[in-house]
Amino acid sequence: MTYSFTVAIDGPAAAGKGTISKAAAAHFGFAHLDTGLLYRAVGRRTLLGVDPVEAAQTLTAEDLDQCELRTAEIAQAASKVAVIPEVRAALVDFQRAFARRAGGAVLDGRDVGTVICPHAEVKLFVTASAEVRAERRFLELQAKGSDLTRDQVLADVKERDARDAERSTAPMKPAEDAVMLDTTDLSIEAALNQALAAVNAKLPAAD
Ligand code: DC
Repeated sequence: MTYSFTVAIDGPAAAGKGTISKAAAAHFGFAHLDTGLLYRAVGRRTLLGVDPVEAAQTLTAEDLDQCELRTAEIAQAASKVAVIPEVRAALVDFQRAFARRAGGAVLDGRDVGTVICPHAEVKLFVTASAEVRAERRFLELQAKGSDLTRDQVLADVKERDARDAERSTAPMKPAEDAVMLDTTDLSIEAALNQALAAVNAKLPAAD
């Protein structure tokens, strides 16, 4: 397969877009980029004292390879640096090049279908109620030894949703042509099947 084909998957934290993106990429043999990791890596560097714009402009593969990027503290730092237009601008080219690589790509984030890849062949917006998302994130963090309470995780999710959706540059929102996927009452398997069906419907026919 040598054509480029982009699947853009956006939505709020813990809606299931990471799981769906990884599984869909594996299913179709596409590359996968979790764009949130870029913002988390920038956020992590700011917690270490680096200026956010400088951190974004000098991000290295090593910054993305840090095992502790998935903490609640780094998620908040990521959401804060993501408001800064110069930070977002510094990360655009890498994401667009990834999206157009030969062989197909799945990118998940907040603005992939609206700003990074407005011409993506497939766009999904994966969402779920804040309570269900917070419960999923709570269980994930607990398994990693976090001592945050359910209420703290819910407050954190809501604060991040509001900041991500209300910022003026590239706010989180569904693209007009996105397929909406609400996973509140869906199993992972059912959600994945819907995502795979949306991609299959747009794949070029085999010769
Ligand atoms: O997907 P995530 O939870 O790892 O993302 C962390 C933060 O990064 C999120 O709260 C907002 C920001 N982000 C963004 O602004 N744009 C993206 N495409 C991906 C993430």
